[in-house]
Amino acid sequence: MNNYNGRVVIITGAGSGMGRAMVQEFAARQALVVALDINLKAAEESISTIANPEAGFAYRVDVSDPGSVNEAVEAVIAKWGRIDLLCNNAGILDGHSTAHEVSIEEWNRVIAVNLTGPFLMARAVIPQMLKQKKGAIINTSSTSGFSAAGGGTAYTASKHGVIGLTRQLTFEYGASGIRVNTICPGATATPLAMADPVTAHSPDMLAALEKFPARRWCQPSEIAKLAAFLGGDEADFVHGSEYVMDGGWLAAARDPF
Ligand SMILES: NC(=O)c1ccc[n+]([C@@H]2O[C@H](COP(=O)([O-])OP(=O)(O)OC[C@H]3O[C@@H](n4cnc5c(N)ncnc54)[C@H](O)[C@@H]3O)[C@@H](O)[C@H]2O)c1
Repeated sequence: MNNYNGRVVIITGAGSGMGRAMVQEFAARQALVVALDINLKAAEESISTIANPEAGFAYRVDVSDPGSVNEAVEAVIAKWGRIDLLCNNAGILDGHSTAHEVSIEEWNRVIAVNLTGPFLMARAVIPQMLKQKKGAIINTSSTSGFSAAGGGTAYTASKHGVIGLTRQLTFEYGASGIRVNTICPGATATPLAMADPVTAHSPDMLAALEKFPARRWCQPSEIAKLAAFLGGDEADFVHGSEYVMDGGWLAAARDPF
């Protein structure tokens, strides 16, 4: 099992759902954990749940804002002097708007958080990782990185884009010791997914969950354990991959409606 003794792990969207579970998983593996979220209070609450809150700190970041991202990464380097792993987990839904219905403002907002955000965070940490000649980045996509219907136009496009970002970063930085991989969760029991309304263009999740192979929600802690594998030395040969944890949703490829 990967131990993160003293390694510095940054998690975005750390105030809720999978991000909070990652804070807890990495802290349990002795990492120094940085909880970044646009909601600072929520990030602080995540840190307060770990056994040794001194081994963590919370900072407000808007991942879609280059200035905010750079400030947060500088604060991490000033405090702990290195960055071993970045988990680009923050993301938002899009209300399942179709292409002719989505406003340009909504499109831009979803792309800014879900795709530009991971790019800006990677851009900010890579110089430090190059100095260290080692580092890892985990980008969170979705089953919507492969298929339609799980989100609207903007969400699906953004999550496809995350997979492309991972591949390009792997091409550019793999030989410099930086590993980049993607996690693709399926239906996971977080505030984001469980509050997602059923619309004319979205799956009725409760009905879908009775039909697909696993027949249950994924727990955020299961995604966090996958991140802990991908971010550590046991995954040293894993570069540029997409790790799907979806209970067989994509494999079964059944119409979720
Ligand atoms: N829950 C699912 O079923 C599911 C499935 C596939 C993929 N995902 C993806 O997993 C990731 C985590 O989702 P979750 O379900 O844990 O969501 P969540 O809503 O529980 O948590 C997301 C966190 O991101 C934060 N956030 C939102 N915008 C931000 C911004 N601009 N800057 C910084 N932080 C911001 C929120 O404050 C929140 O704390 C997202 O990228 C999501 O798209 C979720």
